Amino acid sequence: MNRPDPHSYFDITQPRTSHIHLDWFVDFERRLLDGAATLELEHPSSGPMDLDTKGLSIHSIHAQEGSEIPYELAPEEPVLGSRLRLNLPDGTKSVVISYTTSPEAIALQWLEPQMTLGKRHPFMYSQCQAIHARTVMPCQDTPRVRISYKAAVEVPEQLTAVMSAGPAGLNPGRRHSTRLHFFEMPQPIPPYLVAIAVGDLQSRDLSPRARVWSEPELIDRAAYEFAEVDSMIETAEQLFGPYDWERYDMLVLPPAFPFGGMENPRMTFLTPTVIAGDRSLVDVIAHELAHSWTGNLVTNASMEHFWLNEGFTTWAERRILDALHGGRGSALRWAIGQKALDESIARFGKESPLTKLRTELEGIDPDDAFSSIPYEKGARFVRLLEETAGRESFDRFMQKYIKTFRFTSITTEEFCAFANSELPGILEAVQAQDWLLETGMPANAPVFKSERLDQLTAAADEFATKRRPEKEQTSSWIPGELLIFLQHLPRELDRDALGWLEATFDLTAKRNYEILVEWLTIAAGSDYEPVFERIREVLLEVGRMKYLRPLYSALARHPRTRELAREIYATAKPRYHALSRRVVESTLANSSDGDISNG
Ligand code: BES
Ligand code: ZN
Repeated sequence: MNRPDPHSYFDITQPRTSHIHLDWFVDFERRLLDGAATLELEHPSSGPMDLDTKGLSIHSIHAQEGSEIPYELAPEEPVLGSRLRLNLPDGTKSVVISYTTSPEAIALQWLEPQMTLGKRHPFMYSQCQAIHARTVMPCQDTPRVRISYKAAVEVPEQLTAVMSAGPAGLNPGRRHSTRLHFFEMPQPIPPYLVAIAVGDLQSRDLSPRARVWSEPELIDRAAYEFAEVDSMIETAEQLFGPYDWERYDMLVLPPAFPFGGMENPRMTFLTPTVIAGDRSLVDVIAHELAHSWTGNLVTNASMEHFWLNEGFTTWAERRILDALHGGRGSALRWAIGQKALDESIARFGKESPLTKLRTELEGIDPDDAFSSIPYEKGARFVRLLEETAGRESFDRFMQKYIKTFRFTSITTEEFCAFANSELPGILEAVQAQDWLLETGMPANAPVFKSERLDQLTAAADEFATKRRPEKEQTSSWIPGELLIFLQHLPRELDRDALGWLEATFDLTAKRNYEILVEWLTIAAGSDYEPVFERIREVLLEVGRMKYLRPLYSALARHPRTRELAREIYATAKPRYHALSRRVVESTLANSSDGDISNG
């Protein structure tokens, strides 16, 4: 077998796609994309070519000149989907595949008007990372095969379409009351970065190269929240080299979006939960922007090297924020990440192979392997390299790394070879093999300390022994500091303590979702009924997996709240993205105390 990526049928001995032309009608009634994908090949080719598909109905496959191309669609495999094997006649330059997607396509979420802010129009968006592009288009769905793309997208005339590409015109549609939106992505990207959203959208310019899109109701707040994005781009360019993607636009999605952000090139997708009103959650923007270098320019060759995307990006995000805002938040951000890292390692177990940076994922669904480990363990490894090389020399290394591998997809081993030649001896010095190939956390992990941090964790420890922090202390806390304090509190508190927290910080009314959810998690785990209504509101509205997991698992601690969790989920389920449903169902099953077994 010549399949280098365990999550794709791509075979390295076969022809490669270099460009895709998408022609879609976005059918809100049937909840599907109907149209064609034209795959242009790198060279005129012949013989077998294996594509990834999942849930697609294939209508016909032709060469560009019109002659039919024989094909065979294999039965669906659980993770990979159905292999579509084409048999290319001599000299084939491109193939036109007519198809429709399934209403169950995991990459697409179709929202009823009632699930949007405006409540008047439906909404649809895609999320292709890691291996869901194949539910939207037949393709070689591996980051090793980079493609440029063009698209013609027909949508109802009241709605606007955006894509991870440049806009390239607008025409009346072919069907009644529709418009045809054109897009062009001239740079080669991995298929997981193809993205589309359609809804009642408005935009606001933030700078000559940055713009934010959202439903009209949210556009003012979104424009305020992200106003500093251009200075972030400038800062990032100083650190990592020129911004290569022309524009940096952002789209704020409805709250069902299962992630915090997704780095779709030229159009970052964002959860509305980052709009705190005080710009306190813009670390998500710094993160998605940083992917413009680490991830979108230099891309992991497969999900087994995912840390190359997320570890470097998490490190880069913190470098951008340190450069912009100075040091006060710096140790804080690493400490907040430490909590997520500890929780992920505890969830898998510290001997679990999923705690390695370089993973082996044959037969494993990337959605099940997802955790904070590639992010936080990865970022700590990069930070250790930085500390060991010295900042100046490491910054030069990073710039050269990005310049050398831009627009390519690489493995951990290729990264190591490059590090060895550019910074001889560094991998041995940091014991890179332990970081990459062993489970758990190595003993030489960087330690992040600050006086402030010590005070906050001490205040949290003392709180458990009934000592309350003084007002002069708490009133100076910035949002990240309050978050650290809450994160270090016991997971179950008495009513007196909970009442004090609420009265002191007005937590149930917080618009910063990191703080709100941390509070609701403690309160839910403490069976504290004054917050039940707010928990219900949040869970019925927000589909971000990062918040669903802790909230549902805290609710599962006590019989009464476990009942509440089941009841809320029954209502929320049809509103959640398929990925979010999976997280909730596994969380509830893992903590059900055996009460549904022996049935
Ligand atoms: N690329 C990820 C999101 C992702 C990863 C989607 C894997 C599907 C599969 C994105 O850049 C991300 O990391 N988002 C984080 C942001 C946070 C770390 C600031 C999120 O969604 O929470
Ligand atoms: Zn990321």
